[in-house]
Amino acid sequence: MSLRPLHLLGSPPLRERSSEVATVDEDTRRFIDDLFKTMDAAKGVGLAANQVGVTTRIAVVDADGHRFAMVNPVIVEQEGKDVAEEGCLSIPDLYADVTRSTRVVLEALDRDGCPFRLEAEGLKARVIQHEIDHLDGILFVDRLSPLKRKLLVKRWRKSRKGAGHIQEIAASDTKA
Ligand code: NI
Repeated sequence: MSLRPLHLLGSPPLRERSSEVATVDEDTRRFIDDLFKTMDAAKGVGLAANQVGVTTRIAVVDADGHRFAMVNPVIVEQEGKDVAEEGCLSIPDLYADVTRSTRVVLEALDRDGCPFRLEAEGLKARVIQHEIDHLDGILFVDRLSPLKRKLLVKRWRKSRKGAGHIQEIAASDTKA
């Protein structure tokens, strides 16, 4: 397993619609393990493949005590509306309230390529929606009002002082 560098806002893969995975094989499993390791090192609750520059429909989630990979994920049912603060490893230190569905039903393939169906609420439902957005090239700031997004992104860019769009994750950044 290896840590992958994170792509930050401004990096083109974050804005691409990722392609379906045709076959879940050993390479896919190795990549999923890299995603888990990178998410843990960065202290995230979810990570999508294009956040490490790979535009395939794969993401990992670690929320509400449930840790799982989702390949070709699709939300087949959703209901309710809930507002909560979100952040994203690709836009460090930027947080804002985002409206999401309260409950979702997910269908995807697991790490072994087996189909599963999962009903989720609360944080887990929110992370699933956030990660699937990533796979469609959508970032959580796109869910804000245009005015708020413009303001927050402008402030974020300024705080970055022209730093690049790729961030190495230090191996020492492991979970406490
Ligand atoms: Ni994110």
